[in-house]
Amino acid sequence: MKELIDNLYATQQLEPTEFKALIEGRTPELAEYLFDKANQIKTKHYSNDIYIRGLIEFTNYCKNDCYYCGIRKSNTNAQRYRLTEEEILNCCETGYALGFRTFVLQGGEDLYFSDDKLVHIIASIKKQYSDCAITLSIGERSYESYLAFYNAGAERYLLRHETADEEHYKKLHPQNLTLSNRKACLFDLKQIGFQIGCGFMVGSPFQTVDNLVEDLVFIKELQPHMVGIGPFIPHHETPFANEAGGSLELTLFMLGLIRLMVPEVLLPSTTALGTIDPLGREQGILAGANVVMPNLSPISVRNKYMLYDNKICTGDEAAECRFCMQKRMENIGYQVVVSRGDHFSLQ
Ligand code: 5AD
Ligand code: FES
Repeated sequence: MKELIDNLYATQQLEPTEFKALIEGRTPELAEYLFDKANQIKTKHYSNDIYIRGLIEFTNYCKNDCYYCGIRKSNTNAQRYRLTEEEILNCCETGYALGFRTFVLQGGEDLYFSDDKLVHIIASIKKQYSDCAITLSIGERSYESYLAFYNAGAERYLLRHETADEEHYKKLHPQNLTLSNRKACLFDLKQIGFQIGCGFMVGSPFQTVDNLVEDLVFIKELQPHMVGIGPFIPHHETPFANEAGGSLELTLFMLGLIRLMVPEVLLPSTTALGTIDPLGREQGILAGANVVMPNLSPISVRNKYMLYDNKICTGDEAAECRFCMQKRMENIGYQVVVSRGDHFSLQ
């Protein structure tokens, strides 16, 4: 098994059957070996730097009904909110003072935020903070919309593919959502010139090892700049309320594999990891991740952006999260840097 990891380290690729053998045959010793290699390659490109992104959850309205997600439209118990442009700019002001140079605007698929409104928001942020990068994470829109956002100054886009397997996709989403459209969006975004991020949940209901292998193959094909992965965590007001959550151990192993397969990728250690284990985010970094995304949303709406149960940091001010994260990273020998944190190829 170690030879497979050596081979992946040397060539950045493996056969699907080899990925499957690695995932199925993983042991704590093999994981240690993987993480060691993953960190070698990460340090080569990014040294001990950890990039931070300020996450602004600006709307929890969503027209979609994904079976796993706590802000799905059928969850009538969710208290819905939208931030105004002014509130979003206030988040950026706070964030800038705290050393954030990337703002991630994340929201449900909320058509109240028309292209025009979003273009205005993007342009306003860019005007005031020209040294900052704007990342959008607002789901599926048309090519024309994406192009308008890009021309307004957004340069990165996160759109998790959720699963690269057609059948599995149908088990996680209602019929009107398709994997083919999801993938088409990712290719559109890439073609327009966005730095793109895809990703998936580890341990989502019905996921098989073959599905995880398909995710890896898709990532290799897409060659994204970022990959967001985290464990599935059930939300009590969804159809998956009683399903098992994903494990820390498997999520870490997947992070290690992705680092070796796409050595320069920007890989966040996610809030979901920190939610299933108090030291989950630290362990994610030690498995190969190099990005953290502390929350910049106003405290008044924090506990309303609940994609899954028990989400951490819902009561903490932006500054608390920022410095908490810095300490956490320093404790494991890393440093949070004040920079846009661009992909290695763009530095
Ligand atoms: N558990 C973990 N992650 C979730 N997401 C949505 N719902 C859950 C959940 N219950 C993830 C999805 C989405 C991202 C914003 O959050 O992968 O793309
Ligand atoms: Fe939010 Fe630690 S990162 S409190």
